Amino acid sequence: MSGVLVGKASEIPEGDKKIIVANGRSIGVYNIGGQFFAIRNTCPHQGAALCSGITAALITSSGPGNFEYERDGEIVRCPWHQWEFDIKTGYMVADPKMRTKIYEVTVERYDVSIEDDHVYIYV
Ligand code: FES
Repeated sequence: MSGVLVGKASEIPEGDKKIIVANGRSIGVYNIGGQFFAIRNTCPHQGAALCSGITAALITSSGPGNFEYERDGEIVRCPWHQWEFDIKTGYMVADPKMRTKIYEVTVERYDVSIEDDHVYIYV
């Protein structure tokens, strides 16, 4: 497996993302709470650029009139039809049978690179 340089980890501050193209695939690399996650930038519904959607919190409810925001910044909402995906797992929030591809992330010194299905972050 060969790596593809994305950039330094410092180029992706906490709460931010960087969209790259590696081996013909567009991939979003997210920094969530100082940890890096990478997902395919293609919505499994109709192919929108998923990572151009907003990042948000998971909204849960224990009953009518009650809701809570959890895991802020861990959910990406597709810009076309608002389907939501867990950035850490790639699974669709409302229907976990749907999933976008995720890539393994490793943090190493100085640089960020991507290798086939794996993302390496060098700090
Ligand atoms: S293309 Fe993403 S929700 Fe429809």
